[in-house]
Amino acid sequence: MARRILIIGSEGQIGSELMWAIKKRWPDALLVGADLKQKQAGPWSFEHLDVRQADALQECVLKHRIDTVFLLAALLSATGEARPEEAWKLNMESLLNVLNLARDKYVRQIFWPSSIAVFGPETPKQLAPQVTVCAPSTVYGISKYAGELWCRWYHEKYGVDVRSLRYPGLIGYNSKPGGGTTDYAVDIFYKAVAGEPFECFLAPDTRLPMMFMPDALRATLELMEADENRLTTRMAYNVAAFSFSPAELAAQIKLYKPNFQIVYKPDHRQAIAQSWPESIDDSLARRDWSWCPEYTLEKMVRVMLQELEKRVTSVTAG
Ligand code: NAD
Ligand code: SER
Repeated sequence: MARRILIIGSEGQIGSELMWAIKKRWPDALLVGADLKQKQAGPWSFEHLDVRQADALQECVLKHRIDTVFLLAALLSATGEARPEEAWKLNMESLLNVLNLARDKYVRQIFWPSSIAVFGPETPKQLAPQVTVCAPSTVYGISKYAGELWCRWYHEKYGVDVRSLRYPGLIGYNSKPGGGTTDYAVDIFYKAVAGEPFECFLAPDTRLPMMFMPDALRATLELMEADENRLTTRMAYNVAAFSFSPAELAAQIKLYKPNFQIVYKPDHRQAIAQSWPESIDDSLARRDWSWCPEYTLEKMVRVMLQELEKRVTSVTAG
């Protein structure tokens, strides 16, 4: 039977791309987007919804006879440090509201993303293991690690089919990020294509795990399709693609844009970035559900520049 899917946070960086990816991979699925923001374009239903309102959420699920929820609403790392209580409330209440719907058998399957932010200064910097010291130093990271433990608890206690990934920083050309520490890695491309210098809020040698959006979307849907008997964790799977520093990314961009200029003005986000590992060991995801990234740093940079250039050309031609 075709899935009936609700994406909460559908107008954000990942949601706005995930809707199209689902449409392509599962063409028969019924799709409903939900967000506090207004709907952007797309051939699906939309509900203006505050996920913290449990009754309104349940009403929406019943109205559309939803069986699968992707919960993407959250405050990210940088915003979370500026608005800690709001971040904790949103990130936790939204997850518990959705988990309770599955406990009460209103929905069958949940995707909820975790993050590399679950790791902290005591985690090994290189190839951070799946199971390791997780003592995050941000409210965002604390909420993600607590969320992972809640997911496991609801699975063990009530059999809830909830699945999760620890996304690295995500880079895409169709949507802009908001409020994260890895956002510079998207913003830099817009400046490069506009022929303008880029002021980077991280220091040149700050290496972080990153992933191109098409790989992240595929990982998400492959995990949701995976045979549940093969899943050996109901916390979140580490997934990795590549790592780079701002200086390494700028060097790749300069291969195509030799006049591109970058200056470094590290701010409060530097401390967040420095608390995270430089690379991630994703061998469990590779073993359990055959995860394998397609995009390298070099390929991602080429495609990002090509796609953003196309937009500039079509805007100036139009
Ligand atoms: P985003 O901030 O771009 O999008 C979040 C969306 O949720 C926004 O459209 C926002 O309006 C909506 N929202 C906020 N509060 C809401 C509420 N109360 N009710 C309904 N909607 C609400 O975030 P994103 O980058 O798309 O991230 C999605 C998820 O993926 C988050 O859980 C985030 O922690 C996780 N994640 C993202 C990244 C990344 O690099 N983008 C990396 C790791 C994990
Ligand atoms: N990209 C996210 C952030 O920087 C990581 O979860 O907050």
